[in-house]
Amino acid sequence: MSDPVDATTTAAWGRLKELRSSYEPDLRAAFAQDPERAERYSRKVGDLHVDLSKNLVDDEILAALVELAEQTGVPQRRDQMFAGDRINVTENRSVLHVALRMPRSESLVVDGTDVVKDVHEVLDKIYAFSDKVRSGEWVGVTGKRIETVVNIGIGGSDLGPVMVYEALKPYVQPGLTCRFVSNIDPTDVYEATADLDPETTLFIVASKTFTTLETLTNARLARTWLLDGLRSSGAVAEGDDAAREAVSKHFVAVSTALDKVAAFGIDPENAFGFWDWVGGRYSVDSAIGTSVCVAVGKENFAAFLEGFHTIDVHFRDTAPARNVPMLMGLLNVWYDGFFDSQSHAVLPYAQYLHRFAAYLQQLTMESNGKSVRWDGSPVTTDTGEVFWGEPGTNGQHAFYQLIHQGTRVIPADFIAVATPARPLRDGEHDVHELFLANFFAQTRALAFGKTAEEVRAEGTDEAIVPARVFSGNRPTSSIMAPALTPSVVGQLIALYEHITFTQGVVWGIDSFDQWGVELGKQLALQVTPAVGGDEEALAKQDPSTQSLIRYYRAHRSS
Ligand code: F6P
Repeated sequence: MSDPVDATTTAAWGRLKELRSSYEPDLRAAFAQDPERAERYSRKVGDLHVDLSKNLVDDEILAALVELAEQTGVPQRRDQMFAGDRINVTENRSVLHVALRMPRSESLVVDGTDVVKDVHEVLDKIYAFSDKVRSGEWVGVTGKRIETVVNIGIGGSDLGPVMVYEALKPYVQPGLTCRFVSNIDPTDVYEATADLDPETTLFIVASKTFTTLETLTNARLARTWLLDGLRSSGAVAEGDDAAREAVSKHFVAVSTALDKVAAFGIDPENAFGFWDWVGGRYSVDSAIGTSVCVAVGKENFAAFLEGFHTIDVHFRDTAPARNVPMLMGLLNVWYDGFFDSQSHAVLPYAQYLHRFAAYLQQLTMESNGKSVRWDGSPVTTDTGEVFWGEPGTNGQHAFYQLIHQGTRVIPADFIAVATPARPLRDGEHDVHELFLANFFAQTRALAFGKTAEEVRAEGTDEAIVPARVFSGNRPTSSIMAPALTPSVVGQLIALYEHITFTQGVVWGIDSFDQWGVELGKQLALQVTPAVGGDEEALAKQDPSTQSLIRYYRAHRSS
């Protein structure tokens, strides 16, 4: 595996530094001087219309960014990923989420195995299962059809499924509902099951490793809830055989560790596998998406996968200068490295995408929140900006103040669709148009601002003119699509996967490991006995931890 390139030593980085030192962002002037700017800086990829014109760049800067991609080896590493090379160096694994959405007609042989064939074998199994649940052929232990699917998982085994389920709500089969349990806070599983009927509930235990404390604990709690409920109503008898039968009708699993699934008591016949070359945060398009497939059906799930693949092909085959995810990743590098932007807002003007920012937080921050490169050397640039956001217009009434007038540059992606799933009118107004007017207005206000002269011209009292000035030159990218279809949702996810990839390679980091989550997990195991009253374990903790645990013990009532 090639060594990472220190981006800051490349000629392109030097050129960018030079360009930045003389660049004074002025989007008003940039648009005035170049009436074609919007068109020249807009790209079509799949169904996505991506307008990059309101970013703080000019042709020279873009050219230098493209050179940076080339000089840091982004195209080569991309090709290595698509070839199945072990680019997840610290885990010695291939990175092949792109294979999860390759059409059946393609093949990709890695270590002697055609992974595309394996993918479609599992997909066929998921599709058959999904058909059975949706048609009512799959029934619970008392013969009733399934009405609620509860996905139990955390991280990538939760955030993807819940985000996509919410995004595709209009495609969900009437009479079927999904719920999602992730947190080990016992209130989570309690609230998710409190009003459910065990006879019509199916649990999907989703865990790549099948060792995750939260998921296994919640799965056991769910099993107890199921059996208690079925027994107390007399629906099933006491005893192990009846329990086994009930669990087999109400529990399925998704994992790479099918032996552990069996040990948990779930019939491996009712388990859907995937592979260690799928990272958790890249797995919603694997069997981890089974809950989504059941909810929206196999045709829609297949369209969702096709959406990913459309962007994959573009990312794989397009030269850097026209490669949309690559350009967007490079813009992020530009803002992080040259404007000290520490965060990035993602603002969907689509309520159905209300979990998109949360999903992207894992994708981007677990991938690129690293301080060392893939050869272990320290990074020489900032990495891993904070991704955050809420759907418009809620965000407008909450935190947009900071984006418009705060002291930091916060690049923002605005996402909207032309046709809403639920068109409604308020008198003479098409409400979606009111909504989109906000989308257009916000990106315009951020780019072009409002000068002191313009504020004064409105008759504003001189004393408050400064407070009412908008500097403008706040960078945004606008992403629009015809509608929030399954394919478009897949396209959006793949777009951000490849943006994340590009940034990771420029920074020289392994975007596919997540060692940073391990220490806290280990310490939680070590601390647990102390929390439970073990004085010896308590004495081993640091003074602050001891005092917090003592507070807990003193105040816990039951
Ligand atoms: O703790 C982080 C993590 O490993 C994520 O990367 C992953 O998505 C999540 O935990 C859940 O892991 P699993 O699917 O193995 O239960």
